[in-house]
Amino acid sequence: MRIFVYNYREFDEAEYFQKFSKEYGVELGITTELPTLENAHLAAGYEYISIITSKIDARLMERFHEIGVKMISTRTVGFDHVDLDAARKFGIQVSNVSYSPECVADYTVMLMLMSVRKMKRIMQREEINDFSLPGIQGRELPNFTVGVLGTGRIGRSVIRDLSGFGCRILAYDKYENESVKAHAQYADLETIFRECDLITLHMPLEEENFHLLDEDAFRKMKDGVVIVNTARGGLIDTKALISALESGKVGAAGLDVIEDEFGMYYYDLKSDVLSKRDLYILRGFPNVIVTPHMAFYTDQAVSDMVKHSIESCMLRAEGKEDPWAVL
Ligand code: COI
Repeated sequence: MRIFVYNYREFDEAEYFQKFSKEYGVELGITTELPTLENAHLAAGYEYISIITSKIDARLMERFHEIGVKMISTRTVGFDHVDLDAARKFGIQVSNVSYSPECVADYTVMLMLMSVRKMKRIMQREEINDFSLPGIQGRELPNFTVGVLGTGRIGRSVIRDLSGFGCRILAYDKYENESVKAHAQYADLETIFRECDLITLHMPLEEENFHLLDEDAFRKMKDGVVIVNTARGGLIDTKALISALESGKVGAAGLDVIEDEFGMYYYDLKSDVLSKRDLYILRGFPNVIVTPHMAFYTDQAVSDMVKHSIESCMLRAEGKEDPWAVL
């Protein structure tokens, strides 16, 4: 079978694409470019394409349909960048991948600790020989009540990790998971907003939870609450977060994702003038750590992303059940 790969990365994915395509006897077409209307023709002759987080809107979906694409596999867990209604309309199948949740869970715990220990300021001061103490006193996780929003694989790993710190953990999800109850107590959002010292997000972005943390939600939270987001930027209303940081309602934030990050991450844009004011504002706060959607980025995860994307296309081509099927 043949798969066309968009956003092919030479420096880290290539070794896994070589390995797994050889192992499975798959022929690959590749481009390092993200899929656009202008380069959709590259996938002509391929029924299966593999992408990462670039937007596939209705027009691009139609274009892929016209050239005979039958399935789009995104080498990501999240698939909010793919217009599923358009995929349904044009009869294109969609799948995602899974990878070890530990990559994101580790990173989340790191952002929590960095946020509560004021690590951004400590590191900035250390660079300029400012060894003073005022302004950098931290807090301790065992004294915290932590709210974990979303108890899928990543949220559950975070809860397991946090249980070792001895903090009280409250969890929220539409679907409760029995294993969570060993370490956390499920609660409604109102309770979590009211009682938690730190809130961490681990939900897929859907229409119903867009801007879940908005002005109203921040108003209900404890003063000085810490917010960590390694899920999707759209879960937080950025303007409301900025206001909450300015007022001190939010005491610190660790953000691996932000709204409007499409087309920006993973490129070297250091010489470009970016029209991303919210990013500049957030980055300017001493108590906000912004990282460019890196929580997933480990050797194991990249290998899993490539392997599962190829396997998912193969299973569909063979008419077998695809565990990563979205549509
Ligand atoms: C995902 O897999 O959904 C991610 O968030 C990582 C991706 C941006 C590479």
